Amino acid sequence: MKDGFGREIDYLRISVTDKCNLRCRYCMPKQGVEVMPHEEVLTLEEIFRVVRIMESLGVKKVRFTGGEPLVRKNLVKLIGDVGGLAGIADIALTTNGVLLGEQLDALKKAGLKRANISLDTLDREVFAQITGYDGLERVLEAMDAALAAGLRVKINCVPCRELNDGGIEALAGLAREKNVDVRFIELMPIGCGKAFRGIASEELLARLEHTYGACERVENAVKSETAQYYAFAGFRGRIGFISPLSHRFCGDCNRVRLTVEGQLKLCLHYDNGLALKPLLRGGAGDDEIRERIVQAVREKPRAHSFSDRTAQEYEEKRKMVQIGG
Ligand code: GTP
Ligand code: 5AD
Ligand code: SF4
Repeated sequence: MKDGFGREIDYLRISVTDKCNLRCRYCMPKQGVEVMPHEEVLTLEEIFRVVRIMESLGVKKVRFTGGEPLVRKNLVKLIGDVGGLAGIADIALTTNGVLLGEQLDALKKAGLKRANISLDTLDREVFAQITGYDGLERVLEAMDAALAAGLRVKINCVPCRELNDGGIEALAGLAREKNVDVRFIELMPIGCGKAFRGIASEELLARLEHTYGACERVENAVKSETAQYYAFAGFRGRIGFISPLSHRFCGDCNRVRLTVEGQLKLCLHYDNGLALKPLLRGGAGDDEIRERIVQAVREKPRAHSFSDRTAQEYEEKRKMVQIGG
């Protein structure tokens, strides 16, 4: 399925819950956010129906996000069902890792191939300050268990001046010790993220080269890849930079999102999209839903406009925890 700018849309990010068991300061307010009433949240059957229809439109990659996706009951069943669809080649999860260890076997059996683990520091105290939970060890154990189980693992870190600036080099060192890619993400000015200062990828790259020596840029095999990767001598994994602000990658965007309340969200930064729930619950047939999705995708915005103040009218009002990144 193509959008109005000719971009092939083949990646669906599904937020299966707006709840999270952590309180990362740049993502979620301390007091939490008001969660969606249970009856407003799509059921797993409804989500699966949307995936099935999207698969028939050419979606090949599905990622489960949250909140924290592993707090959703029976996610394993949904992953298994999605894995049974012939057109879905890649099933991945973006998780904070806290519940990953205990669910790993079941997830693996259900067909999960990859886990991206959000981890901002290797310092136990800083971890607790950022997330509100003293659980660094638990996340690191889950990461090791995921690697041992044969999953591909990437670490996502959001560098913030106020939070984890001092531990960036050490975190990158994980990719030296283990077969994981460590990716640094520029903080986007969404929700609580507006209150912190992110660190531009250029600065981080220079710092990492200072510590670990010169690196080589790796060409991306897939053009819709959001990270630019670098190889450092002696490292087992790669270092990546996701730079939506300093290197906007929207021109190659291949994704749409399904929110927890059933909106097909066309761009991370915009609030607009197609309300699928009334169709799913109002007796619409698959063909009608398919046609509405095709129409909606044609309206996908060209790019985010984080630096454009006039766009505020359409700007996303959700917090990042409600989008799932
Ligand atoms: P891979 O499939 O492993 O490449 O993962 P991914 O980067 O698609 O997904 P992940 O959930 O790990 O996202 C990592 C970071 O990239 C998160 O901070 C997201 O907010 C950010 N990100 C993901 N998709 C988009 C997007 O469409 N636009 C922007 N601006 N940022 C995105
Ligand atoms: N900017 C960039 N990334 C963010 N994340 C959460 N909030 C922001 C933000 N404002 C990241 C999380 C997680 C992913 C889903 O999104 O750290 O890795
Ligand atoms: Fe795609 Fe919007 Fe993300 Fe840009 S900001 S890459 S257009 S979803």
